[in-house]
Amino acid sequence: MSVITDLTRMWLTRTVKPFEFKNEYDQNLPFAECDGLGLYVHIPFCKSICNFCPYCKVKYSEDICNKYIDALIREIHIVGSQYEGKKTVTSLYFGGGTPALAVDRIGEIISALEEHFIITEGIGLELHPDNVNVEVLNVLKNAGVTKISIGIQSFGDKYQKILGRKKVDTESMAKALSQVPFETVSMDLIFALPEQTYNDLKNDIDEAFSLGANHVAIYPFIDFTFTKSPVKAMPKKQKRKLLDDITKYCYSKGYSRNSIWTFSRDKAEYSSMTRENFLGFGCSATTLLRDQFKINTFDVEEYCKRIAENKLPTSLTIRFIKRQRMIYWLFWTAYSTRVDERDFEKFFGVSLKKMYGFELFIAKLLGFVKEKSGIYEMTLKGAFYYHYYENFYTLSYIDKMWGIMRNEAFPEKIEL
Ligand SMILES: C[S@@+](CC[C@H](N)C(=O)[O-])C[C@H]1O[C@@H](n2cnc3c(N)ncnc32)[C@H](O)[C@@H]1O
Ligand code: SF4
Repeated sequence: MSVITDLTRMWLTRTVKPFEFKNEYDQNLPFAECDGLGLYVHIPFCKSICNFCPYCKVKYSEDICNKYIDALIREIHIVGSQYEGKKTVTSLYFGGGTPALAVDRIGEIISALEEHFIITEGIGLELHPDNVNVEVLNVLKNAGVTKISIGIQSFGDKYQKILGRKKVDTESMAKALSQVPFETVSMDLIFALPEQTYNDLKNDIDEAFSLGANHVAIYPFIDFTFTKSPVKAMPKKQKRKLLDDITKYCYSKGYSRNSIWTFSRDKAEYSSMTRENFLGFGCSATTLLRDQFKINTFDVEEYCKRIAENKLPTSLTIRFIKRQRMIYWLFWTAYSTRVDERDFEKFFGVSLKKMYGFELFIAKLLGFVKEKSGIYEMTLKGAFYYHYYENFYTLSYIDKMWGIMRNEAFPEKIEL
């Protein structure tokens, strides 16, 4: 499996040099020069831990959570004060873990960020279904949150059991959502679970929209090697049919596809992924700047220790060579299912056709993309193969990296 990703990487970056992440970092981050910068904050606490979940999280304790948030606010000031005045950024997303467990301190975190940044496109936050009640939603809304995303996974008994999740109280959820409206209400669903049918998934999507969602994220189940989930992902052929059929269903309902996995109505948006540059705060958060990508330590205690010493909690940094950065840009931009050659040229100062004309020609020939006035739009086939390749990427790169970082706070080096 990793042979495919290795060969593709070598071809696209035109070098045998792997992606090299080293235990080094810059105390000063060059984000002043970045346009379209986004912000991400990670809150790594959950009331109970799901055995399929790969994210950086620990069991919730009020005491540890408060210490962590004190450190988080300090990290925000260490980074934010490197810029004189206030830097304009696009969005702010809170992910986890379960950020709503720190509901009483979300306002404080947003205020700390607003001392250094002007947020222009709203604030998103992830919720566990247990957090969806009028009280929590009101606190979040008053703190400035404009978009929420709820981790449903499935409304069906069968899949809730398989994933070890509790039954969702749909009645009280719908009531709370109708009383406290948000610009975007997204719901996460998981697909490609064993024997999952088109009707299972269609019912989940219908239920999400009828309960008050205006956006759904349908994530393919990924069986990470380091999680202890007994669930196995669905075979490729079945998965493709399910993804194609469900995409057609969403189109037939008039929903628009704003990324490989997300469908929405009324132009609702929820995406922390498709940004050119971002600053990440908290454990496991990543920062992507013009020529570097860095990952914070996954270890809550070590994170707090570093911050107490006034040092950034960076665990690993990769300094990109030009084509590595281009591939990174293309990979995440393509996640939105379209790439505009003007955006590429604006970012890199060189034309997309000059750098990747041959690859684009092949992609068009194979029916993966269609081009219109310099915009490359992914076809249904292209979207499936992007998904398929992303799966390889996740299992060969993310799985390896997160597997190591869960056990070592500051690994010497990781090569991918
Ligand atoms: C941080 S959680 C969302 C908020 C909250 N912690 C919850 O679980 O409800 C992010 C989302 O990642 C998705 N996810 C987690 N593990 C996954 C896996 N192994 N494969 C695919 N998606 C996964 C789930 O849809 C989950 O809702
Ligand atoms: S799926 Fe959500 S609740 Fe479950 S362990 Fe992951 S972050 Fe926590």
